[in-house]
Amino acid sequence: MKPPEDLLSVAIYARQKAYAPYSGFKVGAALRGSVGEIFSGCNVENASYGLTLCAERTTVCTAVAAGVQTFTQMVIVADSETPCPPCGACRQFLFEFAPNLELWVANLSGETKFYRLCDLLPEAFGPSFIQLPKPKASELF
Ligand code: THU
Repeated sequence: MKPPEDLLSVAIYARQKAYAPYSGFKVGAALRGSVGEIFSGCNVENASYGLTLCAERTTVCTAVAAGVQTFTQMVIVADSETPCPPCGACRQFLFEFAPNLELWVANLSGETKFYRLCDLLPEAFGPSFIQLPKPKASELF
């Protein structure tokens, strides 16, 4: 299944904005909200390497900050030999909002691969399966 052209071109454009001076590996992503809005993001690295944010997570944060929390499709683009699937942390982060997300990964040579997020993170820990306990007001402070 081929990626939607609109998301693919937005992700390619977003990739150019990546801040990746340490790895040199630029990633772009585009995410469709459930009423059709498109959000984009790129990886943002840090001299303290562990603080690096992947393109997928910056994209989700951009969408949530704009008031959108339900998503249908995502395209991720990197200049890799074969299309590069999202890291474990990003799978979990995406799962929070869109367990059934349709997800395409692509490289700059035009190769693509399709996944459904729930297949990339089987038996995931998330709000759709687990009711997290609500802390009592007295435990919040
Ligand atoms: N990266 C992403 O943006 N998305 C992924 O799914 C995998 C990795 C970024 C993080 C880091 O800036 C660079 O790629 C190398 O790991």
